[in-house]
Amino acid sequence: MTVVRVAPVDLLRGTVQVPPDKSLTHRALMLAGVSDRAVRIENPLDSADTAATLGAVEACGAVAEGRLGEAVVVTGRGLRGLRPPPAIDCANAGTLMRLFTGLLVGQRCDRVVLDGDESLRGRPMTRIAKPLRAMGATVATAPGGTPPLAVSGGLPLRGIEHRLEVASAQVKSCVLLAGLFADGTTWVAEPAPSRDHTERMLEAAGVPLLREGGAVGVAGPVASIDLPDVEVPGDFSSAAALLVAGALLGDPEVRLERVNLNPGRTGLLAVMRRMGAEIAEEPAEPVAGEPCGTLVVRRAGALRGTEVAPEEVPAMVDELPLVALLGAMASGTTAVRGAAELRVKESDRITAVVGALRALGADARELEDGFEVTGTGRLAGGAVDSLGDHRLAMLGAVAGLVSEGGVAVGGFDAVAVSYPRFARDLAALGGVPA
Ligand code: S3P
Repeated sequence: MTVVRVAPVDLLRGTVQVPPDKSLTHRALMLAGVSDRAVRIENPLDSADTAATLGAVEACGAVAEGRLGEAVVVTGRGLRGLRPPPAIDCANAGTLMRLFTGLLVGQRCDRVVLDGDESLRGRPMTRIAKPLRAMGATVATAPGGTPPLAVSGGLPLRGIEHRLEVASAQVKSCVLLAGLFADGTTWVAEPAPSRDHTERMLEAAGVPLLREGGAVGVAGPVASIDLPDVEVPGDFSSAAALLVAGALLGDPEVRLERVNLNPGRTGLLAVMRRMGAEIAEEPAEPVAGEPCGTLVVRRAGALRGTEVAPEEVPAMVDELPLVALLGAMASGTTAVRGAAELRVKESDRITAVVGALRALGADARELEDGFEVTGTGRLAGGAVDSLGDHRLAMLGAVAGLVSEGGVAVGGFDAVAVSYPRFARDLAALGGVPA
C-alpha cells in the first residue's frame, strides 16, 4: 500500500488545468462505440476508470486508436452492432457498469457477465436491473442485488415510465440508453435533477429527447446515433479538491482552468460561498455542449458552518466529503442530510469521512443519511486510509495541507481512479507531498 505523507503548507498559489471530466469521458467512449462513424475524442481522461471503459468498448468490437490523455478515435459498431465477449471487467467504475448495461440490453448477446473489484462488488445494481427487467430485458444480479451482473440482450424491449427514488445520473442514463432500443417512449423522473451529461450528448448525437414536468424521455426505437467529435473539458469533481484547498490556503489565489461548470455538478460552489469562500467564475466558451470556465479561489477570512439540504445533494454528491473538511475548518456546525447515497459509493463515505476526520482531531458525527461536523478551525493531523476510494485519498491529502502536523494518507494510489496527476498538480501549487 502506498502511504503518502502530506505536510502542512502556509499557502498555495498558481494555475492548474484539472484533468478531463470522468463522467463525459465514460459517456463519449461508450456512445462512440455505438456510433455509425469514427468519432475523435479530444482530451479523454486517462485514469483507471476510463481505461476500463475503453477496454470494454474495444472488447465489444469497436476499434480505438490513440491514447487516453491525448486523443482517441473510436470506430464504433453502430447502435446494435456491439459483439460483447463473455465477460467484461468494470474494475472500480460504477458508471461503466451501470451505463454500459443500458447499451448491452440492446445488443445480440447471451449472458455477458459484468464484474468489478471488491468495492464495485458491494454496490447496488437492483436499481438498474429492476427497470431494465420491466422493459423486458434479462439482467441477473448476485444475491443481494450486487455485481456480478449477467446480461442477455437483443430481446424486444418496451418503453416504461420510471420514477427514481433517489436522484442518480447513472440510473437515469442506463434507463435512457436502454430506451433507445425500446418500442414506445421511455420516461425517467427524479426527485431532484442529477447531472445531465447523457442527455446533452444524446441530443448532440441526433437523438431528440422529450421533457415534461422535470421528467426526460426518449422515443424508441432509435435507428442509429451519430456522435460528433467530442472535446472533453476539465472535471469539476477533480477541481473541487483543489478548490477547497484554495479556499483554505490560496494566497494570492489558485486558478483552475477550463472546468466543466454544468449546473448539475457545481452545487459545491453555492455551499462554499455560503460558508464564506471567495470564488470567482470566469466563463469560457462551452466545450462538448457543456458550460465551462475558470475558477479563481483565495483564502477566505473565516468560514462559517452551513447546512446542506437534501435537494442540494445531487449536484454535489461526489464533493460532500470535502464539505466535511470545510466544516472542520469553519466555525459552528456543518450538517449534510439526505445523502444516504454516500453509503453506497466507492466506500461508505459517511462512515469513512467521519472516521477520517475524527482520526485527524475533528469533532464529527455520523447521521444515518449524512454527517455533522462541529468546526474548531483547526485540524491536528495524523493518519487516514483511503479504503481504496479516490475521493477519500484526495480528502486526506487536502486535510494534510491545512493540518498542524501533516497527514499520512494510506492507499493514496487510489487517486489513479479519477486523477492520476493529483500529487503533481498539488505540488505545482506549492503543496508538496513529502
Ligand atoms: C456519475 C454519477 C454520480 C457520481 C458518479 C459519476 C455519472 O452517481 O457519484 O461518481 O457519471 O453519472 P449517481 O448520480 O448515480 O449517484
